[in-house]
Amino acid sequence: MLEKLQQYYSTAKTLLQNTANLADLESFYREHLAPSGKATNWKREIGKVPVEERRAFGQAVNEVTSELLAAFETRRDLLKLKDIAETIAAQATDVTLPGRPLRVGGFHPSTLAVREVSGVFQRMGFMPFESAHVELDRNNFEYLNMPPDHPARDMQDTFYFSEDILLRTHTSSGQIHAMRRFAPEPLRIVLPGLCYRHENITPRSEIQFHQVEGLLIGPNVRMSDLKGVLLQFARQMFGPNQQIRVRGSYFPFTEPSVEVDIRCTLCSGEGCRVCKHTGWLELLGAGMVHPAVLRFGGYDPEKVRGIAFGLGIERLILLRHGIDDIRYIFQNDLRFLRQFGE
Ligand code: PHE
Repeated sequence: MLEKLQQYYSTAKTLLQNTANLADLESFYREHLAPSGKATNWKREIGKVPVEERRAFGQAVNEVTSELLAAFETRRDLLKLKDIAETIAAQATDVTLPGRPLRVGGFHPSTLAVREVSGVFQRMGFMPFESAHVELDRNNFEYLNMPPDHPARDMQDTFYFSEDILLRTHTSSGQIHAMRRFAPEPLRIVLPGLCYRHENITPRSEIQFHQVEGLLIGPNVRMSDLKGVLLQFARQMFGPNQQIRVRGSYFPFTEPSVEVDIRCTLCSGEGCRVCKHTGWLELLGAGMVHPAVLRFGGYDPEKVRGIAFGLGIERLILLRHGIDDIRYIFQNDLRFLRQFGE
């Protein structure tokens, strides 16, 4: 009997040591240590052994039971710790992993180019001047020497709110605001901003676009100042060897009027698809401020003269990057926009 008990004890202990988790342990308890478990049942055997062995056997049963119970508790503590350790490991956060960076928004390519272009003029002493996008007809046209029915109005298809309220078609409308604010003082300003034209949207034209305009008024201002300022601008923008070409043109608000070209920035004048094999790219419109405009602005054309120029920003972006469709710039496709960085 005693031998059987010892056998039981050693198998039970092995079983206990082999429990892998708290669930195993729970079933071990039910099978062996619970009130109707195997270990407890040994107590019932005590009465069956001969009287003279009973005392020793009873002691042995008690020892086996309490040792199993003690071993059970030790095992339970161990498995509990193991369980906690496993839970922690499973939920662990690796604090040494680098974080995932948030994508930071950037400036629109037009904004970047407007700032870059106005920056060049500001460093030449041109002061930024902004005015409203919703304009009176007279500031956008009439005071710029385009009375109603002037044929030159056809050059700029216009969004009208009413007969005399419109969306400005060029930043030149700001010229009038600035002149009327500062006349008869000399003026050197740069006018950046959005303009609007009632056009069909095509690869070459959008209904909104940015311009950066310049206006310089003073007693001794001459055509050569215009050339000097624009050559300096071209070199600041495109490199120290950049050349410009000045061609006669027509705007109602300048006389004489010119168009200014730069050496093609993509082929350096060799001739390519972008400059249509001419070697030159049309950059901007400019001229001497028309005396009538000076007068509308509050200046005396006998005493001062002015130069003015206006540059299309999106056109500049297209030329610079050899892009052939202006619509990309306003479609706001992030895959396009992200290429401009910042
Ligand atoms: N306002 C003209 C345009 O939008 C550009 C220009 C500005 C020309 C100033 C001459 C002087 O086409």
